[in-house]
Amino acid sequence: MRAVVYDRYGPPDVLRVEEVRVPSPGARQVLVEVAATSVNLSDWEGLRGSPMYARIGGLRAPRRRVLGSDIAGRVAAVGSAVTRFSEGDEVYGDNMGLMGGFATYAVAPEAALAHKPGELTFAEASTLPQAASIALQGTVSARRGQRVLINGAGGGAGSFAIQLAKLSGSHVTGVDNAGKLDFMRELGADDVVDYRREDFTRLEPFDLVLDLVAHRSVFAYRRALAPGGRYLCVGGTVRTVLRVVTVGAVLGLLTGRRLGLLLARQGPAQFEPVAARCIAGDLRINIDRLYPLEEVPQALAYVGEGRALGKVVITP
Ligand SMILES: NC(=O)c1ccc[n+]([C@@H]2O[C@H](COP(=O)([O-])OP(=O)(O)OC[C@H]3O[C@@H](n4cnc5c(N)ncnc54)[C@H](OP(=O)(O)O)[C@@H]3O)[C@@H](O)[C@H]2O)c1
Repeated sequence: MRAVVYDRYGPPDVLRVEEVRVPSPGARQVLVEVAATSVNLSDWEGLRGSPMYARIGGLRAPRRRVLGSDIAGRVAAVGSAVTRFSEGDEVYGDNMGLMGGFATYAVAPEAALAHKPGELTFAEASTLPQAASIALQGTVSARRGQRVLINGAGGGAGSFAIQLAKLSGSHVTGVDNAGKLDFMRELGADDVVDYRREDFTRLEPFDLVLDLVAHRSVFAYRRALAPGGRYLCVGGTVRTVLRVVTVGAVLGLLTGRRLGLLLARQGPAQFEPVAARCIAGDLRINIDRLYPLEEVPQALAYVGEGRALGKVVITP
């Protein structure tokens, strides 16, 4: 089968297309013939080996040769202990543990996969597992009338988070680069902020800040919160994430706010509710571009350099 492989961390040109053996599923695993894999910022981080947490399990060289976690496709074979799927079923899921989606076949644990709803195309389904799970868990506490800010709101998780926060009845502010301001408004953001021109921590205080790209000081984040407000960091620099869970947690306690890290739970229970709302027409899936397997390097660069409006999908 064809796969996009890499053996060292670096820029997109360390990737190459190779013929490799089709992986065989273990007892509780499923072999998926991949129809679509969406790109997440976590793939870019895994390619670059940066931030450092992207090197967990592979400090010097990547632990997995093939990136791509959000897969959708048809079941080609199942392990002996698999009960929920059989050959030919259409499935989708976040294969963060094993990766391998930038290839024509990938092996995933049964527990990571769900049956793909017939109403969604493979490309649409592949956009949901990781981004929708983060967005749902990050906005679950948003309430009518609250002021919610999403930092990094024009990307994959952010585009779902804006819409979910809006559905809760909150007043939503989206922060991203200038090229994404109109897109965030289209998704329902009431206010938009170009982070290169304006510092959101000096605007009005917010009840909930969901930060997908944290790199500021915890004191700035504390400043952005109203009394009783909550700051949730999902990703960012290691230094910031560590400070949020240490200094930030104490600072929050002392000042009547909460600052913490959202470690997003994975699995169908997290993303299937969002898929149902997409099918119901409450949420929009925004696919900016589709790329063939050979152009995974370009697709990763497009996401990594912050140009993608919503999601980018590889269709092998
Ligand atoms: N906690 C968990 O359990 C968990 C699990 C998986 C993934 N993650 C993390 O979740 C995050 C979500 O990623 P995604 O796939 O939604 O990313 P994405 O699609 O790349 O979107 C991120 C957006 O943030 C923007 N951005 C970058 N720097 C910014 C800044 N300083 N201020 C405001 N916006 C900025 C980017 O544009 P520009 O680059 O042009 O600025 C881009 O539009 C990632 O950080 C990932 O590591 C967390």
